[in-house]
Amino acid sequence: EDVFTYDPGFTSTCSCESAITYIDGDAGVLLYRGYPVDQLAEHSSFIEVAYLILYGELPSPSALEEFEASISRHTMINEGVKRFFDGFYYDAHPMSMLTGVVGALSAFYHDTSNSKDAKQRDIFAHRMIAKIPTIAAAAYKKYFGQPFMYPQNNLDYCSNLLHMMFSVPAEPYEVDPIAAKALDVLFILHADHEQNASTSTVRMAGSTGTNPYAAISSGIAALWGPAHGGANEAVLKMLEEIGTPDKAPEFLQKVKDKVEGVRLMGFGHRVYKNFDPRATIIREHCHRVLKHLGKENDPQLELAMKLEEVALSDDYFKERKLYPNVDFYSGIIYKALGIPVNMFTPMFAIARTVGWVAHWSEMVSEPLKIARPRQVYMGADKRDYVTVDKR
Ligand code: CMC
Repeated sequence: EDVFTYDPGFTSTCSCESAITYIDGDAGVLLYRGYPVDQLAEHSSFIEVAYLILYGELPSPSALEEFEASISRHTMINEGVKRFFDGFYYDAHPMSMLTGVVGALSAFYHDTSNSKDAKQRDIFAHRMIAKIPTIAAAAYKKYFGQPFMYPQNNLDYCSNLLHMMFSVPAEPYEVDPIAAKALDVLFILHADHEQNASTSTVRMAGSTGTNPYAAISSGIAALWGPAHGGANEAVLKMLEEIGTPDKAPEFLQKVKDKVEGVRLMGFGHRVYKNFDPRATIIREHCHRVLKHLGKENDPQLELAMKLEEVALSDDYFKERKLYPNVDFYSGIIYKALGIPVNMFTPMFAIARTVGWVAHWSEMVSEPLKIARPRQVYMGADKRDYVTVDKR
């Protein structure tokens, strides 16, 4: 007889084997292919980390050059894809556009449908990593009613993204290298996180053998929610609502009283129960970036620090092992870079695309087993149909 385990939220279920990312939640350790994320954030680049996550090893200089060239070559989107944006309503959330347009890529690229072919998998991965910033920037331009800006392939990955978002045809635009570097570090920290909700969604969709672009689109949909990637946007909204540091204790009281819908956003994590190593790096990084931009007296940074200080000395948060997560400070950096709040989650999506494609690739290179959980049935017992005139 079959024996099933009931595990709501999959708190103790491993769904796969993977050689990509290692997390030790108690020790606050995060490794990509064995390399500590803090060393990568300090010394590497997002593109190099993307290569590492995809292929398992740091690239040689020539492999890195080749990889960068391939990513640059794929940054354009088909003009037909571009026209999708004309059809969206003027106030569409960028995440809704991202979900739709990435899913629609499956209608344009048919040369990567054989997932058993490693070359085809690579083309898909490179194309996805290259095009996601172009699509996110197009969503941004749509939202602001500005003309779409084509990618500039002489720029590095993050500079190109800033160019596509912030330049306009009428004026010259110089990318601030410090801003591009700040973005690059955030992307490294967000690049992969093993079986998080969106990556698990990509794997689940992919396990049926569906089109890979469609699988990535389902991951974007899962990322959008405030319990996952939407947290960075929710943190900023929360800071705006609280207003000033003197209101922090009052707000935290509401959190502790479990007033409906009130949580300390950017706090807590399913796996990290002591600290989130990414949050530690981002906090430091946040101070550095804001200082460079002359925004070190940002009132929201001050408020975030106050919230953190009060929460960390409070028994409610201590008992539940709630600490700041990666998204507590990331929004403050994005905002300082001039990125509007509704683009925060698309930024996360750009970075996490690397993890999604790597996990999809890892999964499909093995024999596929469809992901198909069971349930505990709680509904009515068997009963007989009653015709409408007798009800
Ligand atoms: N504020 C207040 N209380 C919280 C919070 C929070 N942010 N997070 C968890 N708790 C409490 C929760 O009420 C529960 O208390 P009790 O035992 O009295 O019922 C206890 O802590 C355990 O919480 P849970 O919801 O069972 O924990 P989970 O592992 O299912 O949820 C989480 C993890 C990240 C969804 C949750 O901590 C949360 O909603 N945090 C806020 C949203 C957020 O910042 N998400 C970003 C996560 S990091 C980026 C990413 O990977 O996407």
